[in-house]
Amino acid sequence: MIRYEEFERERLDPIYDTVAPYSEMSKNERYFLNGIIRSLKPRKILEVGVSSGGGSALILNAIRDIEGARLYSVDYTETAYRYPDKPSGFLVEEKFPELADKWHVYRGGDVSRFVEEIGGDIDLLMLDTVHSHPWETLNFLCILPFMKADSWCVLHDISLFADTKFQNALACRYLFTAVVSDEKISPVSDYPGRPANIGAFRVSNVTMKYAGNLFGNLFIPWGTGVLDKDFGDMKKVITKYYAPEQYDAFCEAFAFQKDLMKRRKEDRFSVWLNHKVWSFKRLAKRACPSLYYWLKRHLKKD
Ligand SMILES: C[S@@+](CC[C@H](N)C(=O)[O-])C[C@H]1O[C@@H](n2cnc3c(N)ncnc32)[C@H](O)[C@@H]1O
Repeated sequence: MIRYEEFERERLDPIYDTVAPYSEMSKNERYFLNGIIRSLKPRKILEVGVSSGGGSALILNAIRDIEGARLYSVDYTETAYRYPDKPSGFLVEEKFPELADKWHVYRGGDVSRFVEEIGGDIDLLMLDTVHSHPWETLNFLCILPFMKADSWCVLHDISLFADTKFQNALACRYLFTAVVSDEKISPVSDYPGRPANIGAFRVSNVTMKYAGNLFGNLFIPWGTGVLDKDFGDMKKVITKYYAPEQYDAFCEAFAFQKDLMKRRKEDRFSVWLNHKVWSFKRLAKRACPSLYYWLKRHLKKD
């Protein structure tokens, strides 16, 4: 098996120090992404989750000499969340303008809004968005119909939850585990004792055949909600490219999660109220025990 993180490192080396401060990956992860692209030579790449553009620059550098290769990048926000006065992906325009002729960038919406315009025959997907469930599963479901048979998906932050600051970052692992694929790979982890934080899987006919697993994922409790406008964009894709029963499962999952969130909110309120009543009783018992017991007896009688 090829160790992608070792493959053609010399391609990334010359730009490494310029890219690293803006890229949200570790060293092995950057070389893994570079290596998989250099080895597979994809012609149509979709990157979802751009931020400053460290990943975009790395990918564009890796496809520089691949005839006809193109990178399509999508970010939900117009501006980079770490540099709010700059557009998402600014690094490419600022530091690597010579690579931008192979780049199409879409800013200001979920990928489901742009994916039909980007079109099919995607050879490689680089997915790195919210990390809170259900986002990566939803992103992947909306992109899957546009991926070539025997294409690849690279998924970042599949073990981010190993960092105790990000315990709820489970979305990428849920997707990586549930997706059916002939081959799943990961590089050597940069953090001893923890699983690798980047992985890749082959997207083939079985992936679409068992997409039901991913619709099932949507019933696992969500860490983050989905805005109505994004739900609307996703619905358009799901209804057009999946079977009616899968569309129904998608809508049922949304209705279930909405109800679950409502019930959790109500439960939180009743826990809060019970605690307040308990604290008040304790205070009253200490401050004026005779009144407390008198009230208790008489309220019980009623
Ligand atoms: C972890 S950062 C991406 C880092 C980048 N891949 C890199 O290697 O430097 C996540 C980005 O995903 C974007 N994002 C979040 N949800 C998204 C969605 N549904 N579609 C597209 N982009 C999204 C965020 O705005 C943010 O810029």
